[in-house]
Amino acid sequence: RTVYVNGEYMPETEATVSIFDRGFLMADGVYEVTSVLGGKLIDFEGHAVRLARSLAELEIAHPISKEDLLEVHRELVRANEIDEGLVYLQITRGSDGDRDFAFPDPDTPPTVVLFTQNKPGLADSPAAKRGAKVISIEDIRWGRRDIKTVQLLYPSMGKMMAKKAGCDDAWMVEDGFVTEGTSNNAYIVKGNRIITRHLGNEILHGITRAAVLRFAREAQMEVEERSFTIDEAKAADEAFTTSASAFVMPVVEIDGVALGDGTPGRVASRLREIYLDEMR
Ligand code: PDD
Repeated sequence: RTVYVNGEYMPETEATVSIFDRGFLMADGVYEVTSVLGGKLIDFEGHAVRLARSLAELEIAHPISKEDLLEVHRELVRANEIDEGLVYLQITRGSDGDRDFAFPDPDTPPTVVLFTQNKPGLADSPAAKRGAKVISIEDIRWGRRDIKTVQLLYPSMGKMMAKKAGCDDAWMVEDGFVTEGTSNNAYIVKGNRIITRHLGNEILHGITRAAVLRFAREAQMEVEERSFTIDEAKAADEAFTTSASAFVMPVVEIDGVALGDGTPGRVASRLREIYLDEMR
């Protein structure tokens, strides 16, 4: 693969980052994942805007213009011949060559890394036809989940807990209310009403979420942005998740409780279709 590191394209085997980088030592950095369908970037603009916000919230200098960032995305998709897949982008605070809790001098250049992941069949995934089984776990992450930081240890552990339980993913629960999945936003459907948690510091403001809610409203579907409990979710007609890496993913089981008839729901399946049609 060709990757991009701090202004240069190179083979992945030649890419290096300092061992003192604060991304490595302190998870001091942010990331974005943009999907690629038919060689085309999906919602680049939304990801670029969220990236700028994440950086600003952490007082990391924005080291590259939106235009240049788009160009790097496009060049990597081209060089790696990505038809369906992802572009991963990470910006960390860099380092001044030592470890210190205080941020380094503001002039220290951030570290910018981009690479692609080839995922043939991403849009036509068998997992979406089956639907996902999720478990619920306590949400013990920090309080600024609206910033897309690379602190992903707990979500990774959640994913492993799900796998050990024979499931696909975990929904995180705080004070009885579902926050989000390990790497996606969570929704339930009651009748024709789509319910998903309102925006705030407790969840990531999903780019796919924004698009899917827009499409749902355009299709005259009812949308309610409010918190819902895990018990309400288990009693729902359907559930699903959204993310750049899986689009709209039906959820068919929560903590061993089947939703509806245990197959992907009508609303979730329709939204997946609309999303892919509109974005492709
Ligand atoms: N994850 N919530 C969390 C905790 C996430 O990590 C993600 C994305 C989302 C959905 O956001 P978006 O629709 O902008 O992808 C919600 C990415 C895909 C990842 O970590 O790979």
